[in-house]
Amino acid sequence: MQEKKKTYQLALKQIDAILEDESHLILKMATITCILKENFPYYFWTGFYLVNDGELIVGPYQGTLGCLHIAFGKGVCGTAAKEQKTQIVKDVNKFPGHIACDSRSASEIVVPVFNHKKELIAVFDVDSTEKATFDEIDKEYLEKLFDKQFGKSKLNV
Ligand code: SME
Repeated sequence: MQEKKKTYQLALKQIDAILEDESHLILKMATITCILKENFPYYFWTGFYLVNDGELIVGPYQGTLGCLHIAFGKGVCGTAAKEQKTQIVKDVNKFPGHIACDSRSASEIVVPVFNHKKELIAVFDVDSTEKATFDEIDKEYLEKLFDKQFGKSKLNV
Protein backbone atom coordinates (compact mmCIF):
# COMPACT_ATOMS: atom_id res chain seq x y z
CA MET A 1 0.00 0.00 0.00
CA GLN A 2 2.74 2.45 0.95
CA GLU A 3 4.51 1.53 -2.27
CA LYS A 4 1.45 2.42 -4.33
CA LYS A 5 1.08 5.79 -2.58
CA LYS A 6 4.75 6.56 -3.15
CA THR A 7 4.45 5.71 -6.85
CA TYR A 8 1.42 8.01 -7.21
CA GLN A 9 3.21 10.81 -5.39
CA LEU A 10 6.18 10.49 -7.72
CA ALA A 11 4.05 10.22 -10.87
CA LEU A 12 1.88 13.21 -9.90
CA LYS A 13 5.01 15.27 -9.23
CA GLN A 14 6.36 14.42 -12.68
CA ILE A 15 3.04 15.30 -14.30
CA ASP A 16 2.82 18.63 -12.43
CA ALA A 17 6.34 19.55 -13.51
CA ILE A 18 5.91 18.57 -17.17
CA LEU A 19 2.47 20.20 -17.55
CA GLU A 20 3.16 23.31 -15.49
CA ASP A 21 2.71 25.80 -18.36
CA GLU A 22 0.37 23.72 -20.53
CA SER A 23 -3.33 24.22 -21.14
CA HIS A 24 -4.24 22.06 -24.14
CA LEU A 25 -6.65 19.28 -23.25
CA ILE A 26 -5.33 16.56 -25.58
CA LEU A 27 -1.68 17.39 -24.87
CA LYS A 28 -2.39 16.96 -21.16
CA MET A 29 -4.40 13.75 -21.57
CA ALA A 30 -1.75 12.12 -23.76
CA THR A 31 1.04 13.07 -21.35
CA ILE A 32 -0.85 11.90 -18.25
CA THR A 33 -1.64 8.56 -19.92
CA CYS A 34 2.02 8.02 -20.77
CA ILE A 35 3.45 8.97 -17.36
CA LEU A 36 0.94 6.85 -15.42
CA LYS A 37 1.44 3.81 -17.67
CA GLU A 38 5.23 4.13 -17.33
CA ASN A 39 5.06 4.26 -13.53
CA PHE A 40 2.59 1.46 -12.87
CA PRO A 41 3.45 -2.00 -14.14
CA TYR A 42 -0.13 -3.14 -13.44
CA TYR A 43 -1.72 -0.53 -15.73
CA PHE A 44 -2.80 -2.34 -18.91
CA TRP A 45 -5.26 -0.39 -21.12
CA THR A 46 -4.87 3.21 -19.96
CA GLY A 47 -6.61 6.26 -21.36
CA PHE A 48 -9.42 8.73 -21.72
CA TYR A 49 -12.88 8.65 -23.27
CA LEU A 50 -14.12 12.14 -24.22
CA VAL A 51 -17.67 13.40 -23.82
CA ASN A 52 -18.79 14.18 -27.39
CA ASP A 53 -22.31 14.72 -28.74
CA GLY A 54 -23.98 12.98 -25.81
CA GLU A 55 -21.77 9.88 -25.83
CA LEU A 56 -18.19 8.86 -25.03
CA ILE A 57 -15.63 8.58 -27.81
CA VAL A 58 -12.14 7.19 -27.42
CA GLY A 59 -9.43 9.76 -26.68
CA PRO A 60 -5.69 9.57 -25.96
CA TYR A 61 -4.76 6.08 -24.74
CA GLN A 62 -2.07 3.42 -24.57
CA GLY A 63 -2.91 -0.24 -25.07
CA THR A 64 -4.70 -2.49 -27.50
CA LEU A 65 -7.52 -1.16 -29.71
CA GLY A 66 -10.23 0.39 -27.56
CA CYS A 67 -13.96 0.63 -28.40
CA LEU A 68 -14.53 3.82 -30.39
CA HIS A 69 -17.96 4.79 -28.99
CA ILE A 70 -19.55 4.08 -25.60
CA ALA A 71 -23.08 5.21 -24.73
CA PHE A 72 -23.74 6.90 -21.37
CA GLY A 73 -24.90 4.21 -18.95
CA LYS A 74 -23.18 1.36 -20.83
CA GLY A 75 -20.28 -0.61 -19.37
CA VAL A 76 -18.04 0.72 -16.63
CA CYS A 77 -17.07 3.88 -18.53
CA GLY A 78 -20.66 4.73 -19.43
CA THR A 79 -21.76 4.13 -15.83
CA ALA A 80 -19.01 6.42 -14.47
CA ALA A 81 -20.11 9.09 -16.98
CA LYS A 82 -23.83 8.75 -16.20
CA GLU A 83 -23.40 8.70 -12.43
CA GLN A 84 -20.44 11.13 -12.48
CA LYS A 85 -18.80 8.89 -9.89
CA THR A 86 -15.63 6.81 -9.84
CA GLN A 87 -16.25 3.09 -10.46
CA ILE A 88 -13.90 0.49 -8.98
CA VAL A 89 -14.53 -2.95 -10.46
CA LYS A 90 -12.69 -5.84 -8.80
CA ASP A 91 -13.86 -8.41 -11.36
CA VAL A 92 -15.11 -7.19 -14.73
CA ASN A 93 -16.94 -10.47 -15.37
CA LYS A 94 -19.25 -9.63 -12.48
CA PHE A 95 -20.09 -6.13 -13.75
CA PRO A 96 -23.39 -6.21 -15.66
CA GLY A 97 -22.89 -4.86 -19.18
CA HIS A 98 -19.12 -4.67 -19.00
CA ILE A 99 -17.72 -3.95 -22.48
CA ALA A 100 -14.88 -6.38 -23.19
CA CYS A 101 -12.62 -4.58 -25.66
CA ASP A 102 -9.77 -6.92 -24.70
CA SER A 103 -10.48 -10.21 -22.95
CA ARG A 104 -7.27 -9.85 -20.91
CA SER A 105 -8.84 -7.07 -18.81
CA ALA A 106 -9.74 -8.51 -15.39
CA SER A 107 -10.38 -5.44 -13.20
CA GLU A 108 -10.63 -1.72 -13.74
CA ILE A 109 -11.15 1.77 -12.39
CA VAL A 110 -12.95 4.56 -14.24
CA VAL A 111 -12.70 8.13 -12.94
CA PRO A 112 -14.88 11.03 -14.21
CA VAL A 113 -13.01 14.15 -15.33
CA PHE A 114 -14.55 17.61 -14.86
CA ASN A 115 -13.60 21.03 -16.21
CA HIS A 116 -13.39 24.26 -14.20
CA LYS A 117 -17.17 24.70 -14.54
CA LYS A 118 -17.65 21.25 -12.96
CA GLU A 119 -18.97 19.90 -16.27
CA LEU A 120 -18.11 16.31 -17.17
CA ILE A 121 -15.62 16.39 -20.08
CA ALA A 122 -14.21 12.84 -20.06
CA VAL A 123 -13.64 9.67 -18.10
CA PHE A 124 -10.29 8.05 -17.42
CA ASP A 125 -10.21 4.26 -17.71
CA VAL A 126 -7.48 1.93 -16.48
CA ASP A 127 -7.73 -1.81 -16.92
CA SER A 128 -5.53 -4.42 -15.29
CA THR A 129 -4.91 -8.02 -16.32
CA GLU A 130 -5.15 -9.04 -12.62
CA LYS A 131 -8.34 -9.12 -10.54
CA ALA A 132 -8.93 -6.61 -7.71
CA THR A 133 -6.09 -4.31 -8.70
CA PHE A 134 -7.67 -0.95 -7.91
CA ASP A 135 -8.80 0.47 -4.58
CA GLU A 136 -9.42 3.72 -2.69
CA ILE A 137 -5.78 4.75 -3.08
CA ASP A 138 -6.02 4.77 -6.88
CA LYS A 139 -9.33 6.65 -6.61
CA GLU A 140 -7.94 9.27 -4.25
CA TYR A 141 -4.82 10.07 -6.26
CA LEU A 142 -6.47 9.96 -9.69
CA GLU A 143 -9.33 12.23 -8.61
CA LYS A 144 -6.80 14.67 -7.12
CA LEU A 145 -4.71 14.59 -10.30
CA PHE A 146 -7.66 15.31 -12.63
CA ASP A 147 -9.02 18.06 -10.42
CA LYS A 148 -5.64 19.77 -10.49
CA GLN A 149 -5.01 19.30 -14.23
CA PHE A 150 -8.52 19.85 -15.65
CA GLY A 151 -10.70 21.36 -12.93
CA LYS A 152 -8.86 24.50 -11.97
CA SER A 153 -8.58 26.67 -15.07
CA LYS A 154 -9.94 27.06 -18.59
CA LEU A 155 -8.41 24.61 -21.11
CA ASN A 156 -7.72 24.93 -24.84
CA VAL A 157 -9.35 22.23 -26.91
N1 SME B 1 -13.70 -1.26 -19.89
C1 SME B 1 -14.63 -0.46 -20.52
C2 SME B 1 -14.59 -0.53 -22.01
C3 SME B 1 -13.51 0.23 -22.61
S1 SME B 1 -12.13 -0.57 -22.72
O1 SME B 1 -11.82 -1.57 -21.83
C4 SME B 1 -10.93 0.12 -23.49
C5 SME B 1 -16.04 -0.52 -19.99
O2 SME B 1 -16.66 -1.55 -19.75
O3 SME B 1 -16.54 0.54 -19.83
